[in-house]
Amino acid sequence: MTKGFNLNPVRRFAGPCEPIKRPKEFTCFSYDDQHKLHLDDRSLKWYYPPIVLGTDLSNGFETFDKHDDSQDEHLDSLLEAIMNHEKETGQPIDAHVVTWRGMMTKFMAAPFEDRDGFEMNATLYRDCIFIEENHAYKVASRKEQDAQPWKGPIPQEVMQYWGYKFETLATLPAPWGETSRDYIENRDNEVVNNKEQYCSVVRTGIGKTILCLGGEVDALWDIKPREKGKPINWVELKTSAEIRSDRDMDNFERKLMKFWIQSFLLGVPKIIVGFRSRDGRLLKLEELETVNIPDTVKRRGRAGWDGNVCINAASAFLEWLRGVINDEGVWRIRRKPHSPIIEVWKVEETGHGKILTDDFINWRIKL
Ligand code: A3P
Ligand code: MG
Ligand code: MG
Repeated sequence: MTKGFNLNPVRRFAGPCEPIKRPKEFTCFSYDDQHKLHLDDRSLKWYYPPIVLGTDLSNGFETFDKHDDSQDEHLDSLLEAIMNHEKETGQPIDAHVVTWRGMMTKFMAAPFEDRDGFEMNATLYRDCIFIEENHAYKVASRKEQDAQPWKGPIPQEVMQYWGYKFETLATLPAPWGETSRDYIENRDNEVVNNKEQYCSVVRTGIGKTILCLGGEVDALWDIKPREKGKPINWVELKTSAEIRSDRDMDNFERKLMKFWIQSFLLGVPKIIVGFRSRDGRLLKLEELETVNIPDTVKRRGRAGWDGNVCINAASAFLEWLRGVINDEGVWRIRRKPHSPIIEVWKVEETGHGKILTDDFINWRIKL
């Protein structure tokens, strides 16, 4: 039987915000430049602003070493990192929900963003719900999108490249003092690669639900070594079109909702926006403090989203979900485009589908 969580009326989620826990990283993992998994921080990057503004972000597009994401990676690397952490501590983590940061971003944005739907698979194992993206749905919606005629003057793949190019221009693979001047000055000639990633795994909480989230973080602000248990000075890098009118500002503030949610969930305190011209030249950098974004946007009063509503709706949804997904099997979580309802129903009566790996199940049996 299908059950539904109604996001309407959105105003029922207004008001003071539910308690939230500060996200704490408890483990991490890296993909190297071949996208091979390593349970360490080798792909960590340091923020160091690009020396030359005006650089064409399309430079090097021909040599882009692009990750093929047609394979379904499920939660495999996140589970591997959790398992490794549990082997070290001898205890299972205490989360009610384990998922990628991207899935939580979709739940939190849901009250204000109904253009794109989503589909996920979930399973309960030992009192914890594991949620993955439904890969088949993602592939199908991308295919549908690609079939739409593209009217822009610049191909979409090139525009997507700009974001990765900016990351390459604005980061170093080691702290500043340990990086050669040659590297710093010639970052425009580096091959851009999006197979390499550093992923942070955090414990956090929204309302009554404890979450374990995994997600990519772009770079460190500090050159100092990180101290265990202390908040980490992460930075999130984003590119965006230069703001030339009130309408551009409205669009930018709408985009800020996703920037804010994404950074809020992993405890990233700072977002660096690289503003670019319409044809992809990097024009200027702006530093935004993540915590201030919801208030700044609210004061201007035109963006149409509210951070407290995002948090409260996610809190209510997670509590509801924990009541629905209460026995074995595989469940589907779906929101159709333009629908106010998030639907949940069972798709497999037993087992965990491909959401959990055998290694993870066998390890947890022993715990
Ligand atoms: P921008 O966000 O600057 O456009 P992230 O900011 O999440 O670290 O992602 C880095 C870059 O990946 C993005 O840079 C964008 O180029 C690309 N990217 C991320 N999500 C995407 C999506 N859903 N579709 C297309 N490109 C995406
Ligand atoms: Mg990134
Ligand atoms: Mg980024």
